[in-house]
Amino acid sequence: MNVNGRHFRTIWLKESDPRVVQIINQQALPHKFEIIDLSTVEDIRRAIKDMYVRGAGLIGAAAAYGMYLAACEAGKGTFDRDLLAAAGILKNTRPTASNLAWAVDAILAALTGREGTRAQKEEAARREAASIADADAEFCRNIGHHGLAVIEALAEKKKGEAVNILTHCNAGWLAFVDYGTALSPIYAAFDKGIPVHVWVDETRPRNQGASLTAWELAGHGVPLDLIPDNAGGHLMQRGMVDLVITGADRVTRRGDAANKIGTYLKAVTAEENGVPFYIALPSSTFDFTMKDGVREIPIEERDPEEVRYISGKTRSGTIASVLICPEAVPARNWGFDVTPARYITGLITDRGIAEPSEAGIMKLYPEASL
Ligand code: MRU
Repeated sequence: MNVNGRHFRTIWLKESDPRVVQIINQQALPHKFEIIDLSTVEDIRRAIKDMYVRGAGLIGAAAAYGMYLAACEAGKGTFDRDLLAAAGILKNTRPTASNLAWAVDAILAALTGREGTRAQKEEAARREAASIADADAEFCRNIGHHGLAVIEALAEKKKGEAVNILTHCNAGWLAFVDYGTALSPIYAAFDKGIPVHVWVDETRPRNQGASLTAWELAGHGVPLDLIPDNAGGHLMQRGMVDLVITGADRVTRRGDAANKIGTYLKAVTAEENGVPFYIALPSSTFDFTMKDGVREIPIEERDPEEVRYISGKTRSGTIASVLICPEAVPARNWGFDVTPARYITGLITDRGIAEPSEAGIMKLYPEASL
């Protein structure tokens, strides 16, 4: 997508030194657009863990480039062993998104046991990482194409009035390599001249909606309003939401979907108010080994300080982090929740829209049939 007229992906190799991975630092957005260099597996581990990069698809692509750096760092006679160790380190960074393990395992499968010189192995790792990043962008482009049909159908009913879409967290191009998932159909509709308007949940505690989704949509010219996380129910009751689309971090074979904490509340409220609720996801986010998402999907619990403190720009222009509760109050910070398939209208994937059931998903993914 474009930033000030220049096309950017969220991750790439430095032109002057292809052993350096470059990313957009999402910790600095929306107040500063900053590109940072990552040169070691440890740099990548920290970037994922501390959310310099975040979002299911981008975490996968970053891990893939982490494996490329692992190939560059590996010892002479210990290539396979060093790669396996790096895979363990990277997989341990964030437990919920399936794309992370999917990407690391794909690189491991392509590289371990492989014959060839050191230079050939490094080159193979670079190619594999690039193809994972390209696949992510292509998945997201196709999601935009399939999701556009949902927005078009609603736009027809609204006869020229804007289609109001609510989204939670950031499942735009910043969360992937390009285009995004939940936002990809919105960009496709907007670019086609269909009037759309987005209600952007701020998404406490880290405010990915306020800082990232709002930044992305505004940068593309898409009309939006930022709303507190707890406003969605009121808007739905008043008929001010035509559609909810969110992303997902892991979706089971029967369609239960883990996404940023708070998504489940929106899904239940959408059902109560007859508002269609879609989840958009690339093929790499399915976890066909799991069925019952509530019981099986691991939910990341993050540092409570993310709840107790909030950071932003003060009126005088400095970036500050401030405590929002009494000094000694404890907090808990679950990163994700699971929306059971029964609350989901459809799963917008790169292969088309799947009914959220095992039968519906297997129609699009017959290779995962048992
Ligand atoms: O914790 P984050 O910011 O990495 O959250 C993951 C997400 O981006 C959201 O859950 C998103 O809606 C899923 S799609 C990337």
